Amino acid sequence: MAILVTGGTGYIGSHTVVLLLEKGYDVVIVDNYVNSKPEVLNRIYKITGKKPRFYEIDVCNEAKMRDLFKKEKITDIIHFAGLKSVAESVLKPQLYIDNNIGSSKVLLKLMDEFKVHNIVFSSSATVYGVPDHVPLKEDDKVGGCTNPYGQTKLDIEYLLKEYAKEHKDANIAILRYFNPIGAHESGLIGEDPQGIPNNLMPYITQVAVGKRPYLNVFGNDYKTHDGTGVRDYIHVVDLANGHLAALKKLESKPGLVIYNLGTGKGTSVLDLVKAFEKANNLTIKYEIKERRPGDVDENYADASKAFREMGWKANLDIVDACRDSWRWQKNNPKGYDKD
Ligand code: NAD
Ligand code: UFG
Repeated sequence: MAILVTGGTGYIGSHTVVLLLEKGYDVVIVDNYVNSKPEVLNRIYKITGKKPRFYEIDVCNEAKMRDLFKKEKITDIIHFAGLKSVAESVLKPQLYIDNNIGSSKVLLKLMDEFKVHNIVFSSSATVYGVPDHVPLKEDDKVGGCTNPYGQTKLDIEYLLKEYAKEHKDANIAILRYFNPIGAHESGLIGEDPQGIPNNLMPYITQVAVGKRPYLNVFGNDYKTHDGTGVRDYIHVVDLANGHLAALKKLESKPGLVIYNLGTGKGTSVLDLVKAFEKANNLTIKYEIKERRPGDVDENYADASKAFREMGWKANLDIVDACRDSWRWQKNNPKGYDKD
């Protein structure tokens, strides 16, 4: 009776595994370390005193995954495994199609074969494409994705919907994350991007730790209160808790459900910089640059459905996230790499 967590050594997966272990769930992790490090497992042990069972497998490898399903009694799956760089997906679309869609197809095949009924899937606000209004609701139009990464998320949502139509006993939670930031309060696990960070918060923390000279603020002529892009930044621990809420929801056999996981609040780039400075008593140098292609003015969630139907809402705010992201970066200036 175990929960299979694919991508469980990644950023969101590792925080979710910690909460699952703390709640007493039996956890099996699968990861191929394409974007994570074995050290994460030691950190999970340090926080929880527990060692989840771990398999170093590419989820696209059907034969090896089948062996795992034969060995473990899997009841539920949380499918985090996926490649997530928007920029890389534009350069290597086939890699994203093969990995993200391929891994999801393998899981659905094995769910059918081994009669596993419940799956929680990591989708993204990116499926809403270029929004014509905010806040975004789950039944707002999707599509018009501006990059192959986003399209893979939409395609997997479609696969899941078709699977649910054919398998009446399937229970599927599609979770559309907004912008995860922050880290576990222990400072032992956090986001560890390879190379130059694409995302705002890891870039800010790398400026703070002296790894980068200043933050590039991509555009200050957006239609927002200070001209910089507005997003819905959600603390990764709140997001992780959303997965526990989703597992509980699946126990009530709801069929396929879709939830936005966000805070419902919009925060601009400069708001986040100021919050980071205030929370940590630091100054972040920044320069205003050209807009980044593909960015939208504003993107934030209406997350009321997740509260109504799962009793889940975000409890932490951007100040908590700024403090926790900085603790993680300060304690681990090279991420999980040892000095
Ligand atoms: P991450 O890269 O830190 O974690 C993903 C994990 O999956 C990594 O440990 C990686 O090694 C593993 N992985 C990838 N492909 C695999 C494969 N074929 N087999 C086995 N393991 C594989 O990313 P994250 O931020 O934790 O994101 C988790 C999920 O949430 C992803 O699916 C991502 O697309 C989605 N998501 C993330 C964000 C975000 O901003 N972080 C936003 C929306 C959705
Ligand atoms: N930004 C900067 N400088 C940086 C990085 C980002 O000014 O160095 C700005 C962006 O222009 C944007 C905001 O900060 O206005 C947030 O950018 P991120 O790259 O952190 O996040 P995005 O909203 O662009 O994208 C994120 C994930 C995607 C996911 C999307 C869904 O990275 O994978 O949220 O909403 F699809």
